Amino acid sequence: MSEASRQPVLTVEDLHTWFELRKWGFFKAGEVRALDGVSFDLHSGETISIVGESGCGKSTLAKTILGLNLPTKGDIRFQGHSVKSLDKQGMKWFRSRVGYIQQDPYGALPPFMNVEQILREPLIINGVSDRTQQQERIRRVLEEVKLAPVEDMLPKFPHMLSGGQQQRLVIARAMVLEPALLVADEPVSMLDASVRVEILQLLRRLQEVYNLAIIYITHDLSTVRYFSERIFAMYGAKVVEKSSTEALLRAPRHPYTKALFEATSDPDAGNLAQFKDVPAGEPPSLVDPPQGCRFHPRCSEKIPGLCAERIPPEFMVNEEQRVLCWLYRGEEQVG
Ligand SMILES: Nc1ncnc2c1ncn2[C@@H]1O[C@H](COP(=O)(O)OP(=O)(O)O)[C@@H](O)[C@H]1O
Ligand SMILES: [Mg+2]
Repeated sequence: MSEASRQPVLTVEDLHTWFELRKWGFFKAGEVRALDGVSFDLHSGETISIVGESGCGKSTLAKTILGLNLPTKGDIRFQGHSVKSLDKQGMKWFRSRVGYIQQDPYGALPPFMNVEQILREPLIINGVSDRTQQQERIRRVLEEVKLAPVEDMLPKFPHMLSGGQQQRLVIARAMVLEPALLVADEPVSMLDASVRVEILQLLRRLQEVYNLAIIYITHDLSTVRYFSERIFAMYGAKVVEKSSTEALLRAPRHPYTKALFEATSDPDAGNLAQFKDVPAGEPPSLVDPPQGCRFHPRCSEKIPGLCAERIPPEFMVNEEQRVLCWLYRGEEQVG
């Protein structure tokens, strides 16, 4: 493998995103710590799945990486460039190299544009002005996402497509500039179960064709098993476990991850309702987070005098698993 191909596509370093809360729209009344110190590398051809309950900061992580939220602290490096040092032109390049599938599919497609116009727009914005080149690219991406026959699809408006077809179009638009990274925020959660697998298989196929790096955000634990090389569990704005998929399925290490994956060992599980109820208790406030480990109020394994007082650093359980948890305090500290 060459030096260049071993370099990560994306490096996220100690990323924090805090939103200011304002009283009467003016006085600062605190902040929502929606992302609190997240670091990782992502390589070409690799998928990281991010799982965690609603409100734990998954979408904030996605939007901060995409430059849609400004980080309060920390850095993002993409293909060797620090995103915060990019000028206007550099940001345009960065945006064209990163595809985004946003969480809300209804708001995602402009209702008065047809398929052809929707796919042409990003090409025009990014300087692909040659008509033949545009046509070729649009055709190819429609074939890749299996919106066929292409001729029939081009004049259609979003409301004329099924839910699954709409999501294929969203994916086509995210892929039309041939990005190096795709950030997919709950891309299948609004779709029927029967269509979900097809869409995930499609993303996997595109990943192979383009050697694409993917960040896949989901509630649906039943899909991450087949879909990712690594799984990160988020809790209270922090990534509390980073594991290879294989190691995590064999033995989740963080008490939160254990509870999550035990709760959904039933193959029909993995929906939001079951996810939310286990483990019992409320997700932590991100305005006034608990002292010490954020999970300690819900944790059955907490260590008296330690977990409620001190924030756990990252410990390396083994080559494939890292956790923010004091249970592993005998292991090497890595963060
Ligand atoms: N623009 C914003 N302003 C203020 N708070 C926000 C904003 N975006 C997200 N939040 C808050 O940040 C927390 C994490 O939200 P989010 O990242 O959407 O979580 P998830 O995607 O895991 O459900 C929530 O408490 C949410 O209300
Ligand atoms: Mg979200």
